[in-house]
Amino acid sequence: MAQRQKIKFGAIIHGVGGNIAGWRHPEVPADASVSFSFYKQQAQVAEAGKFDLVFIADGLYITEKSIPHFLNRFEPLTLLSSLASVTSRIGLVGTLSTSYSEPFTVARQFASLDHLSGGRAGWNLVTSPLEGSARNFGKPEHPTHDERYKIAKEHLEVTRGLWDSWEDDAFVRDKETGVFFDPSKLHRLNHKGPHFSVEGPLNIARSRQGQPVVFQAGSSESGKNLAAKGADAVFTGHETLEEAKIFYKDVKTRAVAYGREAGDIVILPGISPIIGRTQEEADRKYEEIASLVSIEKALDYLGRFFEHHDFSQYPLDEPFPDIGDLGSNSFRSGTDKIKKQAREQGLTLRQVALRSATPRGQFVGTPEHIANLIQQWHEEEGADGFIIHSQLPSGLRDFVELVIPLLQERGVYRTEYEADTLRGNLGLKIPANRYAAAKVNS
Ligand SMILES: Cc1cc2nc3c(=O)[nH]c(=O)nc-3n(C[C@H](O)[C@H](O)[C@H](O)COP(=O)(O)O)c2cc1C
Repeated sequence: MAQRQKIKFGAIIHGVGGNIAGWRHPEVPADASVSFSFYKQQAQVAEAGKFDLVFIADGLYITEKSIPHFLNRFEPLTLLSSLASVTSRIGLVGTLSTSYSEPFTVARQFASLDHLSGGRAGWNLVTSPLEGSARNFGKPEHPTHDERYKIAKEHLEVTRGLWDSWEDDAFVRDKETGVFFDPSKLHRLNHKGPHFSVEGPLNIARSRQGQPVVFQAGSSESGKNLAAKGADAVFTGHETLEEAKIFYKDVKTRAVAYGREAGDIVILPGISPIIGRTQEEADRKYEEIASLVSIEKALDYLGRFFEHHDFSQYPLDEPFPDIGDLGSNSFRSGTDKIKKQAREQGLTLRQVALRSATPRGQFVGTPEHIANLIQQWHEEEGADGFIIHSQLPSGLRDFVELVIPLLQERGVYRTEYEADTLRGNLGLKIPANRYAAAKVNS
C-alpha cells in the first residue's frame, strides 16, 4: 500500500465571514469582503502555516436577505490573480459554476491563473444551487439538480480536453529557423455534445502542473459520482468522524471503480475551529459570535438553502415544519441533512435556524483538543486534510500559531513545502497530455 500522505490544509477566506452577523464583531474589518489588503494578509498567514491552498468561494445570485459577505464581494479569479503576486507557494483555488459558464472561458481563465502563479491554480467546480442565477444569465430557467450534474460532467470533459490542446513541447520558439510551434503537437478537440459544442484549440499552453487542480464541492449522489470520476479533490462537510469516514470510503471506492487509484482524489472536509487557551475560553469565543445573530436573521439565512422559503410564517418553538421536497433542487445534500437531523433529534424551528446560522461543530477547544481531533480524523480515514473556515480573522492566525506546531511536532504535517505547485503539494500526479500519451502507447 502507498504510504499515507501528511495532512493537507486549505483556508477559506470569506471576507466579513460565512455567517450573518460576524461582520459586527469588533475585530472584523467591516469592508473585508472587498478589501484586498485583508485577503492578502489572510493568504500570507495561511502561507506562513505552509497551507496547501487558499479557497475563494462564490455564488451568482443575491437578495436583500443574503449574508453580508455575499452582497458585496470579489469575483474569485480576479482576486486570485492578484493574490498570485503576493504569495509564492500556496495554491489558489476559486469557484466557478458549470451551469453558467462556457468551458472555453473556464479553461482559458484557470490556465492563465496557472501560468501567472507558476502552477498553483485550482478550480472548485460547482453546479450553482440558487435558482435565481438563471435570471442573471438570460436563461429561461435554472436547470434541475440532475440536469446540472449532466452539464457539469460534459463541461469538465471539454475543459480538460481544451487544457490538453498543446503538447508540453509544442512551442519551439526557434528564432533562427522562424518556427514558433510544432503543428503536429497542436490538437483540436472538435467536441459536439448535448450541452456544448467546442472546436478548440485553446489559446494557452499547459502549465508546470499540467492542468489546474479540479475540486468538486457537491456531496449528493451525482456530486460524488462526478468527483470520483473526474475531480482531483473534494470539498465536503461532516459533523462527526463516523459520517466523514463513510463519505471518504464511499468516494474513494467510487474512484477506484472508475479505474483510478484511491490516492488520485484528495478529500477535504471543511471545519470551523475556535481556539482558546482553555475549553472555557473557546466556548466563550463561540458564544460571542453566536450571540450576534438574531432569530429573524437566522430564519432568513435558513431560507436561502430552501429556495428562499419564508420560515417566519411558522411557530418558532414547535417542531421543524414539514416542507416536503423544498430544498432538493438547490443544496440537496445539505438540505436533506437539515431535515433528517430535525426529524431524528426532534428540533424546533428556532433550534434549526440558530444551529444553521452559527454551526458549532466539535472543533472548539484548546490547541491540543483540535490537533488531536484533526490527527484522529486523518488517521482513521475520515479526511486527507481540511478546509479551515475561521469564524474570525484571528482564528486563522491562532490555528497557524497554536495548532500547526503541534501537528508538525507529531510529524503528521509538513514543516516545509514539498513542491512549488499545488498538485505537487497535494501529492497528485501531473496528468499526461492525452495526445502525447496516445502517441507513446500506439
Ligand atoms: C467546503 C465547501 C465549499 C463550497 N463552496 C461553494 C461555492 O463556492 N459555491 C457554491 O455555489 N457552492 C459551494 N458549495 C456547495 C456545493 O457546491 C453543493 O451545492 C452543496 O454541497 C450541495 O451538494 P449537491 O449539489 O451535490 O447536492 C460548497 C460546499 C462545501 C462543502
